[in-house]
Amino acid sequence: RQTGLTSLDYGFVNTAATRSAITYIDGDAGILRYRGYPIEQVAENSTFLEVAWLLIHGELPTPAELADFDDRIRRHTLLHEDLRSFFSALPHDAHPMSVLSSAVSALSTFYQDSLSVSDPEQVELSTVRLLAKLPVIAAYAHKKSIGQAFLYPDNSLSFVDNFLRLNFGTLAEPYEVNPVLSRALERLLILHEDHEQNASTSTVRLVGSTQANLFASVSAGINALYGPLHGGANEAVLQMLANIRDSGESVQKFVERVKNKESGVKLMGFGHRVYKNFDPRAKLVKQSADEVLAALGVHDPLLDIAKELEEVALADQYFVDRRLYPNVDFYTGVIYKAMGFPTRMFTVLFAIGRLPGWIAHWREMTQDPSTKIGRPQQLYVGDVERNWPTGR
Ligand code: CMC
Repeated sequence: RQTGLTSLDYGFVNTAATRSAITYIDGDAGILRYRGYPIEQVAENSTFLEVAWLLIHGELPTPAELADFDDRIRRHTLLHEDLRSFFSALPHDAHPMSVLSSAVSALSTFYQDSLSVSDPEQVELSTVRLLAKLPVIAAYAHKKSIGQAFLYPDNSLSFVDNFLRLNFGTLAEPYEVNPVLSRALERLLILHEDHEQNASTSTVRLVGSTQANLFASVSAGINALYGPLHGGANEAVLQMLANIRDSGESVQKFVERVKNKESGVKLMGFGHRVYKNFDPRAKLVKQSADEVLAALGVHDPLLDIAKELEEVALADQYFVDRRLYPNVDFYTGVIYKAMGFPTRMFTVLFAIGRLPGWIAHWREMTQDPSTKIGRPQQLYVGDVERNWPTGR
């Protein structure tokens, strides 16, 4: 019998690993607040970098602070030329999430002057470098996957517009940013900025608790986000919708297979560990889906399938009993697709959105004197003791 072990908690359903002042969620009431501000108000009124500052520093930036933050980020968008060529060594069909995590890991080899975890100036420099360079890395992962030349960032553009141009611009002709698309993407990124102790943020904190640098910790977070139960769900939702469309299977029939727990069949984009009535982000995203597709003049039958799926599932006792509702990932894919992003880029967009949250948590943790290295216990269920067989 082990001593000192008081509980076994698969999936950390009932274990708080830290105190945090960044994000508040009430899963029963469908409430999400960043530093006390309701997500609905944040999504309506803010910019991505303003929210990043809020999450990291705890208060809204003054106009001068925001201008300075924005300016510092613009001045760090360039990647070291050797890091640019790093992409050419990877297979063209690599998943962009693998490219992203590898390149972020490589940042700690190129920017060794900001690896300290205790020097506030270096932490700030790493913060700015990550916020500036992750979108550029993401766009290069995209360009690599479609065989197009990389563009250099245009620092006269805003954070989101620069990112759109790097993805959809070409060397051949100037790129006109569509303001509808730009605002819609910014809003989606804001909705993803933080979500307290989810799997990737907890990973960033766990890795950071060993005093690993910010680049290493964020790279680990990106890998945790990759899985289909977490950020990878947005890609999986689109595949699920496309499969339903291509197979000609009715939505009812598909839902029956989900309920029968056919192996590997889940209603992706549904269910959440914390939200048990609705995911407030999903409400906002669904609203955006209609607006963005209408503004871009896109009619996508996948949106119709998604809406039908939602309707059928919400009326079904299986989903009611288990309190399963659409989560943030259910409608995002349809919007990203309408914007022109390939399916494999969807989780990368989630990573760009979540970056400020990861940084804010890493910084909160490293500044908290109560922080200890993360080291879960286990309940040992193997043999007690055996003698090594003689004569082997
Ligand atoms: N489709 C069908 N059944 C489901 C689903 C689903 N999407 N989600 C949960 N269930 C069932 C599950 O089979 C279980 O049933 P039973 O009690 O009969 O065994 C019950 O609901 C409870 O589920 P759970 O797996 O114990 O719940 P969890 O809190 O451990 O998992 C989850 C949460 C999000 C991993 C899960 O709901 C899921 O796999 N959803 C699909 C993937 C997804 O959309 N992930 C994105 C999450 S939100 C954004 C993010 O974090 O990235």
